[in-house]
Amino acid sequence: MCGIFAYLNYRVPRTRKEIFETLIKGLQRLEYRGYDSAGVAIDGNNNEDKERFIKLVKKRGKVKALEEELYKQDDLDSKADFETHFGIAHTRWATHGVPSAINSHPQRSDKRNEFVVIHNGIITNYKDLRKFLESKGYEFESETDTETIPKLIKYMYDNRESEDTSFSALVERVIQQLEGAFALVFKSIHYPGEAVATRRGSPLLIGVRSKYKLSTEQIPVLYGTCNIENVKNICNSRVKRLDSSTCLHAVGDKAVEFFFASDASAIIEHTNRVIFLEDDDIAAVTDGKLSIHRLERSASDDPSRAIQTLQMELQQIMKGNFSAFMQKEIFEQPESVVNTMRGRVNFESSTVLLGGLKDHLKEIRRCRRLIIIGCGTSYHAAVATRQVLEELTELPVMVELASDFLDRNTPVFRDDVCFFISQSGETADTLMALRYCKERRALTVGITNTVGSSISRETDCGVHINAGPEIGVASTKAYTSQFISLVMFGLMMSEDRISLQKRRQEIISGLKSLPEMIKEVLSLDEKIHDLALELYKQRSLLVMGRGYNYATCLEGALKIKEITYMHSEGILAGELKHGPLALIDKQMPVIMVIMKDPCFTKCQNALQQVTARQGRPIILCSKEDTESSKFAYKTIELPHTVDCLQGVLSVIPLQLLSFHLAVLRGYDVDFPRNLAKSVTVE
Ligand code: F6R
Repeated sequence: MCGIFAYLNYRVPRTRKEIFETLIKGLQRLEYRGYDSAGVAIDGNNNEDKERFIKLVKKRGKVKALEEELYKQDDLDSKADFETHFGIAHTRWATHGVPSAINSHPQRSDKRNEFVVIHNGIITNYKDLRKFLESKGYEFESETDTETIPKLIKYMYDNRESEDTSFSALVERVIQQLEGAFALVFKSIHYPGEAVATRRGSPLLIGVRSKYKLSTEQIPVLYGTCNIENVKNICNSRVKRLDSSTCLHAVGDKAVEFFFASDASAIIEHTNRVIFLEDDDIAAVTDGKLSIHRLERSASDDPSRAIQTLQMELQQIMKGNFSAFMQKEIFEQPESVVNTMRGRVNFESSTVLLGGLKDHLKEIRRCRRLIIIGCGTSYHAAVATRQVLEELTELPVMVELASDFLDRNTPVFRDDVCFFISQSGETADTLMALRYCKERRALTVGITNTVGSSISRETDCGVHINAGPEIGVASTKAYTSQFISLVMFGLMMSEDRISLQKRRQEIISGLKSLPEMIKEVLSLDEKIHDLALELYKQRSLLVMGRGYNYATCLEGALKIKEITYMHSEGILAGELKHGPLALIDKQMPVIMVIMKDPCFTKCQNALQQVTARQGRPIILCSKEDTESSKFAYKTIELPHTVDCLQGVLSVIPLQLLSFHLAVLRGYDVDFPRNLAKSVTVE
């Protein structure tokens, strides 16, 4: 659960300071992926020096702390240029080993730093590898799973059979021994100016920048051959030699820069030309030439990797005038929902077309059931839309938490259609559930926000929610866009159902007016801030509702607990008398979501039960509702929309409330403790 960033300049002179700045900035963009410690590895000398050494600087805490340390330790005013240099950097979220400088990355092979590596993911067989390496005399200094990797590559290097074994051949031998998930970038004193990167299960992309024309738009993949039987005879492997026809480089004097990163947000300010690596690709830069090779070729392999042009703009990923990314993202929702619907919902003809699903529509209509799988907020988007999907598709709809779905070995059949909802598209549990369903031949559909993510690539078809990059760890705009994407899917499925036309029409008109209504809800921000002033010292906060708004309660409670560290529970109002009612008294803060929908009367009953126990409910209700407000301690009045879309509006006051509570309690909203944006471990 980490962010990796690396920068290689080939024949593009850069000062030491410029190299540092590039690495630090890259890490800052990735900090949302992990922020308990950070580190960099750079060359210790300038180009004039014969003997190179790698300098490692690592620090517990955020990237800022690393930056300060770098400035303390290094003479950044040195004017010496590095014509060619390769630096690697990492921001960590601890999985194995406490946050500390020693456990942070880059991890190294030995005290001379012969090989250093940055890693995102988890090595599940690290204990066996460590045992093996210790038996060979390698001494470990950290508690991390990652440390086995630089030690293993040094072992391969020390036992190489020929002096000209390439850097990438060594990496290839290493990854054959690794189990688990990884994105890795290697640097070595034995291969100055060279970079090798690889991935399996964790994301990694490479940006390319040059003022010269690039030699190709497609990099052909090389297939190497290896005869690895076990760790002991690993060094018998061979990889085809590279030639320039299988490499990418810039034409001209070949000056070129490469940026390696866990995601595009760290690259986009340098270049929008990127290559997404596939699982088991090994990318190597030697003499400014990038080549990609793999061990084996399978029938479904694409034999080349395209250089893609990203459309994302830097300002999209900057904070703007807001104090936190989360706040910015909450306020972006009037636009992000439009982007989700753009080109898909035709309000004139009342039709919906999701291009990524259209070729599979027949198959989906014939299926046995829909299973929607996700984690956290993404799961809540499935809960929020389950009822309308059942209504519009007339199919049984199961909603599943990915981890539980796997724990139960849930039966899945080839005539099931399985949806995987994930903002990042990289969540390990969701990804594993996807692979589980693929093995059982179900049709798989991805609903993600990240183009090129593992889930979007591994599913048979899918929808990009187009919410734009979400940086705040607490998911906000992705939730409303996931919600709308699922509703759009239901609308597309029901296009031919005569009996559903009126309902479809009503929902489509509801979608049209959503952006304006979201703006109206956002205008309540000050009122919600005042409410937060009253609540921020409390220890607990209950959120209650039912029907279409139950998901709002779950999602609101999740937002509150993750960024304010208050105890918060989303309670199904129908379950109140089966237990939670015992919590109610004068002191316990309760938020009730009561909307003018088919559950209105039942919600009134719950309201009576709460007030009868001296509860003082804060009620989120429709503007037209005069009944609920009579019993409310406070009300937040929301515009009224069609029942199945009301959850898009009712969640926003809770997003805002959690934000204000966290700020008032003095917490870092975008970086809640113990959490990371992209959860790439189980
Ligand atoms: C909560 C939150 C998490 C994520 C969950 C799944 O605010 O962000 O609960 O929703 O980790 O992440 P994705 O959607 O990236 O699969």
